[in-house]
Amino acid sequence: MKRYSDKVQKIVYGGDYNPEQWPEDIWKEDMRLFKEAGIDIVTLNVFSWAAIQPSEDEYDFARLDKIMNLVRENDLKVCLATSTGAHPAWMAKRHPDILRVDFEGRKRKFGARHNSCPNSPTYQKYSVRLAKKLAQRYKDYENIVVWHISNEYGGECYCENCEQAFRRWLKEKYKTLEELNRVWNTSFWGHTFYDWDEIVLPNALSEHFEYDRSTFQGITLDYRRFNSDSILNCYRMEYEAVKEITPEIPVTTNLMGFYPALDYQKWGRYMDVISWDNYPEVDATPAKIAMQHDLMRGVGGGKPFLLMEQTPGVTNWHDYCALKRPGVMRLLSYQAVAHGADSVMFFQMRRSIGACEKYHSAVIDHVGNGDTRVFRETAKLGKELQRLGDFVLGAVTEAKAAIYFDWDNWWALTCTAGPTVDLDYKAQILDYYQALHTQNIPVDLVGAEDDLSKYKLLIAPLLYMTKTGYDEKIRKFVREGGIFVTTFFSGIVDEHDLVITGGYPGKLRDILGIWAEEIDALPEDKENCFDYNGSRYPARLLCDLIHSEGARALGTYQKDFYAGMPAVTVNEFGKGKAYYVATRSDAAFYRLFLQDVCEECSITPLLGDVEGVEVTVRENENGRFLFLLNHNDAFAEVYIEETCSDLLTDETFFEGTRIKMEPKGVKILKISR
Ligand code: GLA
Ligand code: ZN
Repeated sequence: MKRYSDKVQKIVYGGDYNPEQWPEDIWKEDMRLFKEAGIDIVTLNVFSWAAIQPSEDEYDFARLDKIMNLVRENDLKVCLATSTGAHPAWMAKRHPDILRVDFEGRKRKFGARHNSCPNSPTYQKYSVRLAKKLAQRYKDYENIVVWHISNEYGGECYCENCEQAFRRWLKEKYKTLEELNRVWNTSFWGHTFYDWDEIVLPNALSEHFEYDRSTFQGITLDYRRFNSDSILNCYRMEYEAVKEITPEIPVTTNLMGFYPALDYQKWGRYMDVISWDNYPEVDATPAKIAMQHDLMRGVGGGKPFLLMEQTPGVTNWHDYCALKRPGVMRLLSYQAVAHGADSVMFFQMRRSIGACEKYHSAVIDHVGNGDTRVFRETAKLGKELQRLGDFVLGAVTEAKAAIYFDWDNWWALTCTAGPTVDLDYKAQILDYYQALHTQNIPVDLVGAEDDLSKYKLLIAPLLYMTKTGYDEKIRKFVREGGIFVTTFFSGIVDEHDLVITGGYPGKLRDILGIWAEEIDALPEDKENCFDYNGSRYPARLLCDLIHSEGARALGTYQKDFYAGMPAVTVNEFGKGKAYYVATRSDAAFYRLFLQDVCEECSITPLLGDVEGVEVTVRENENGRFLFLLNHNDAFAEVYIEETCSDLLTDETFFEGTRIKMEPKGVKILKISR
């Protein structure tokens, strides 16, 4: 199979194109406008299942043939979708097993999209058949550069078929009921199972009193794993179907960043290239957006990914559809590239006239021509990307710092039932990510399976769940000289959400050299504080009451009955060190703390930091590229230490000068060697 970047010569530019929603005379005008805007790729056929398969054994590709030929004649590359993100109405009527049952236990009727039960025999049969037919029909279209399986897989199903599949999945995993009863701790509340058929899905009809509130976390955890696997199985079946016929074409499906229902770290193993849809809230900080890009890059093992969708202007499903200000679409496009994207793509090319996305931006607006601000900005970026060519294609980021993020841990933390309702794993990750991000320190988001040997620093905020073997991985990492940072409420449970007895933080206790005896939860309006490096910082959310077992206290609580107990500790372990931050603090603390930690492990920032200017790095055989992104509404000046040239303007800057950056401006600096 070719790598995605072998199939293209530049950062491809385009997006979802739905000509099937338009009369054919519009298509020609679309082609003209695409050319004008420097568009060179279209994602086709995302929601055409009903059009292609009007009944059980009838398939009609006439319209898609026309579209495929039209775009080929116009030198457009194609990201070809399999259309299985929404099933036809006739199919739902005829084969109700394709309809999902929701969390409340209600059987859904036909409607909306992303609506098929993953364990429905009908869905499995017809989705795979369609994928296969598409591959057979279009296999000789050289301009197909990537397959787009389904669309934004997600959601859950609680139907009878899923229930039976869940039992099979459990049997496969645990082999015996004895083991199942053990890992689910069913002796609590008299839940002992004597027959696999007694097991039901955990939802509002059984174990749940709210979506994230379960009486048996172990059951809920397994259901979430099972559901993610079930949907992954659908993806994999279609993957195999197209791969058999077009082994050369890379396959993807569009992911959604921190999307809770699917364990993307597992999914990533089955994707040739990662792609994702970036729809940040209007007030999202640059760090928050960057963190999602880095997560997606990490899911793909650090390889470049595709920005499959973003809006050129407004996102209609946000509460307030604020316009992307002039320059922001360009800035966010380059931000994606700066973090590893090899494409810049939109949803969508022409704004639809009916149903729920008619107020979602598109490259071509309802006015129907190129005379709009959004189109002009799109066309300008199109020209710029043509000029940039293949320079940064395939380039990777070599980070020395890693942040651990894990879906199982996320699921377990969302339904812990204590010690606080304010627990938010993502927010804790962001605390640490942001502190590195503002200091221009590249970071990878890694999962439990990822290799740690290339990192000097591993930060694992809220490492509540220590999966079997992961403590050993950390132990080895630190012993060999790595620096490890973790926080309050860590090392508490194993992968079944069963508490590891013998003192918190469980298996991490020797590495950290501490014992956490109790955990105090603080409501939003209460805080403690601690001293660190001569300054005082707030202690919020949770405060672990810890005793040193060899670790040195770097900060101590200042209030309440645990005043004087350690709040931040460090433990020498092998050739490395392990830090414990026993509470949640503020941005000023994280920044200073991580600055100290990075110094300790000789991780240096890419450039001196300038407020609001993001800096990242990518490298390939063409060189080393620094991306400078000015998120400010004002000019900014950045001091550079090495001579470099801006790939976007060809300007050369000599070492030791200050580069002036326009508001929302971007520079891609190639470092001269
Ligand atoms: C998602 C979908 C698209 C479209 C956009 C609108 O990303 O994949 O089909 O609905 O949202 O923002
Ligand atoms: Zn189902």
